[in-house]
Amino acid sequence: MASAPRLVIPKLSELALGLDTGRVKLRPFVDADVDAIFPIVSKSEFPRNMSWAAHADPSETQAFIRATTAALADNSAVVWAIEHEGRAQGCIGLDIEWQLRALRLDRGELGYWLAPSLWGQGIMTEVASAVVRYGFEAIGLHKITTRCFVDNTASRRVIEKAGFRFVGRAEDDVWRDGRWITHLSYELTAPEWPDVHTTMKLNRPPRT
Ligand SMILES: CC(C)(COP(=O)(O)OP(=O)(O)OC[C@H]1O[C@@H](n2cnc3c(N)ncnc32)[C@H](O)[C@@H]1OP(=O)(O)O)[C@@H](O)C(=O)NCCC(=O)NCCS
Repeated sequence: MASAPRLVIPKLSELALGLDTGRVKLRPFVDADVDAIFPIVSKSEFPRNMSWAAHADPSETQAFIRATTAALADNSAVVWAIEHEGRAQGCIGLDIEWQLRALRLDRGELGYWLAPSLWGQGIMTEVASAVVRYGFEAIGLHKITTRCFVDNTASRRVIEKAGFRFVGRAEDDVWRDGRWITHLSYELTAPEWPDVHTTMKLNRPPRT
């Protein structure tokens, strides 16, 4: 049975945002992270499956970090640095919309990236699952949505392994690098989530 939205919209900046998923720690970005993440986000190929362009200068990375702090303060997003071996090596966030005129939405949109040196070890699957849990349990969201470019197989697998339900294809949705790109769209509601996170979708046996 779906519950009604919380009477009082929580203040994101008052939540305990530190998370430990086992192999990595999640925490809000701080200014000093610029040195660790600029080398990642400045590679020209790195953001090709996302909405932004590679950073040309550390000041862009600094502006990104400051924007995450501002979004937390204005209650519109939680963005975590993914810390591995003491350094920020990735990012995961929920852009949150609480209401639209007379409508309550209580909805988060999930997005993420990780340093290529850490790909293929199941880290983002672990992190995305922890953030989905946090979104429903700690923030009190009713729905989490996410999407990826149709040929971003790694991201598609992360989304599927976190238990998201496929909603549909948005054909020729955005233009990037000389072509129209189709989005795959997914969502998960709070009432669906308890089933998903206890099934084999998430706790599946390791590959042999
Ligand atoms: C998407 C991304 C976060 C995945 O992180 P990760 O920690 O490597 O992900 P995981 O190891 O948890 O899972 C990756 C899955 O994709 C698969 N995969 C990885 N690279 C792949 C490739 N090139 N082709 C096909 N499958 C691939 C892995 O085999 C694994 O699936 P499996 O468990 O079924 O074998 C990482 O690749 C990344 O940061 N990419 C650039 C940014 C980006 O695309 N962000 C998402 C935008 S929607």
